[in-house]
Amino acid sequence: MTAKRTARRAKTTGFATQAIHAGQIPDPTTGAVMQPIYQVSTYRQPALGAGWVYDYARTINPTRSALENNLAALEGGLAARCFASGMSAIAAVMNLLRSGDHVVVSRNVYGGTYRLFEGLLRQFGLDFTWVDTGDLAAVERAIRPATKMLYVETPTNPVLGLTDLAGASRLARKAKLRLVVDNTFMSPYFQRPIALGTDIVVHSTTKFLNGHSDSVGGCVITTRAADAERIGWLQNSVGAILSPMDSFLVLRGIKTLPIRMERHDASARRIAAWLSGRRKILAVHYPGLKTHPQHALAKRQMTGFGGMISFELGSLGNAKKFLGRLTLCALAESLGGVETLISHPASMTHGAVPKAERKRIGVSDGLVRISVGLEDADDLIADLDQALRSI
Ligand SMILES: Cc1ncc(COP(=O)(O)O)c(C=O)c1O
Repeated sequence: MTAKRTARRAKTTGFATQAIHAGQIPDPTTGAVMQPIYQVSTYRQPALGAGWVYDYARTINPTRSALENNLAALEGGLAARCFASGMSAIAAVMNLLRSGDHVVVSRNVYGGTYRLFEGLLRQFGLDFTWVDTGDLAAVERAIRPATKMLYVETPTNPVLGLTDLAGASRLARKAKLRLVVDNTFMSPYFQRPIALGTDIVVHSTTKFLNGHSDSVGGCVITTRAADAERIGWLQNSVGAILSPMDSFLVLRGIKTLPIRMERHDASARRIAAWLSGRRKILAVHYPGLKTHPQHALAKRQMTGFGGMISFELGSLGNAKKFLGRLTLCALAESLGGVETLISHPASMTHGAVPKAERKRIGVSDGLVRISVGLEDADDLIADLDQALRSI
């Protein structure tokens, strides 16, 4: 099938079809249905000055390009670029800014994002104001003449607070800011920020997109030609590219994204409801629960609630006992894999956030985060139940 025919099909088909086919042209030499892993650093050029597209593999690699085209289609963007990690993708987006620029940021983001912004980028003259972006009036108040970007994570890691993306986009348009959304928790299957007015979407592909806990990567999806060009330039100039093998793994993972997300979501709904009924659990954060303060917004801007839940056990001692007793759920950093991963945000993912700040955003010492995997929900509930009995 020609590239033209594939592109025409991708525009007219549903999400699951696009997840499997968008950006992927059967290998012209063999017809291989999976995108081959072009494990190569350079390419033999036919003649000097022949304008051969493939010049050097930091700049362009066919396996990576297939993934990039696939991600651009799934998020409804103009172009995508893939990076060595979610953090290097976020760093590339921040490199669109200049010294003196100001950014309004969701006050509860992944701890590594906080570390990059406060620990490194401030040093290069960027300024950040951390606000609850769930409160658009607070976002508006934080905007000043030097503000160039509104950076949002929704739902937030780990307390699952939401930002109204259509509202945030209206504010960004009015103030002429770029709206950047970290869509890692939902994946494009459950949330499409660009359709709601977002300018740039970032992902840690390490999580749900890859989905199998066997690759670290990131991507940036842009909507404007100038941003697409600059992110491509940064990818080549800084060089933090996604490897061919990782590009292949993420492409393969995405083929099952819709069915995986459906199962993550179905099991998480059951587990969140079960957790809510336990006396020893003081609070459960899950956008799919009617008790979530932004449940109505979740229903409006997401097509599912996802596989991430966090809950409050009251103290570090309780969290330690509980985590120490689990046998099926794995105590681990990261999320979005086929296996259930459970973590203690205050000492793990958000260890870089100062304690006072953690307290302000609700990341207490008794908070536990669970990334619900694809095991039988009954087995997961049985494991959580026996561990809960230890406290
Ligand atoms: C929401 C979110 N964004 C970005 C990142 C960073 O991604 P990576 O670990 O691939 O660098 C993470 C990692 O946990 C995350 O949870």
